[in-house]
Amino acid sequence: MRTFNFVFGGILDPMKKARKGFVLVANWKMNPDSLEEAKKLAAVFERKAKAAKGVVLVICPPAPFIPALAKSAKATHIGAQDVDFREAGAFTGAVSARELMSAGAEYTIVGHSERRAAGDTDEIVGKKVSMALEAGLRVILCVGEKERDSHGRYLDVVRAQIRAAFVPYIIADKKKAPWITIAYEPVWAIGKDYAKALSPAGIHEMSIYIKKVVAEILGKDQGLKTRVLYGGSVNFENAQDIITDGAIDGLLVGRQSLDAEGFSNMISYAGSL
Ligand code: PGA
Repeated sequence: MRTFNFVFGGILDPMKKARKGFVLVANWKMNPDSLEEAKKLAAVFERKAKAAKGVVLVICPPAPFIPALAKSAKATHIGAQDVDFREAGAFTGAVSARELMSAGAEYTIVGHSERRAAGDTDEIVGKKVSMALEAGLRVILCVGEKERDSHGRYLDVVRAQIRAAFVPYIIADKKKAPWITIAYEPVWAIGKDYAKALSPAGIHEMSIYIKKVVAEILGKDQGLKTRVLYGGSVNFENAQDIITDGAIDGLLVGRQSLDAEGFSNMISYAGSL
């Protein structure tokens, strides 16, 4: 097993506690069925977010619900779940970054494993990142290996995903580096039993690794500053250990973000740190 001897060197002190500015991303995927349900759920989280000072809450509903939710979002932010890699034109069904901005989105997820499984290559993910940043959207870039191997090849997979996503962007505009948040989501831990989430220690290790990879591309300073989230079978119960011992900057939550009570508890917990 490859070791992490390259990461420490005194520059990356493990954070024992989550800090203010903790990011919670709710990825609703293709749920709920109606705008009424979406509004109800968003209203619950809006109230919670108001009380949880310092928590950055990003709700990513299905695209048709973005305008309505963006209108009433005050303490929360609205994000898209995906964006097209092209600017405009004859691409039936596609939604551009500028259109998402105009609809009220502030963020977009890019490179989610469910989009990668549907055909997004690293190159396409890179173009999407550039498009989103150019239009003014903040990016939640998802990376993560499909499986773990004992030779540490999964680390190369994650590094390649990060490099591919960052390189086109750097050429375009280096100043927007802080607009990219990286969500580490090991594919094998997504949508599983909540006990299958990666261990807090494993999450901590990957968070440091990811910051190191960003540091290789953009320098130590930006590597340290880049926020790294964890996603994959997070619920309220395991979130507490992950937040405290995983030393991450936030969470990307799928199923549990559709559960009014469970996700509300998560928001309050993050706000209490
Ligand atoms: P999950 O989904 O929390 O339901 O595992 C996470 C994701 O796919 O982003």
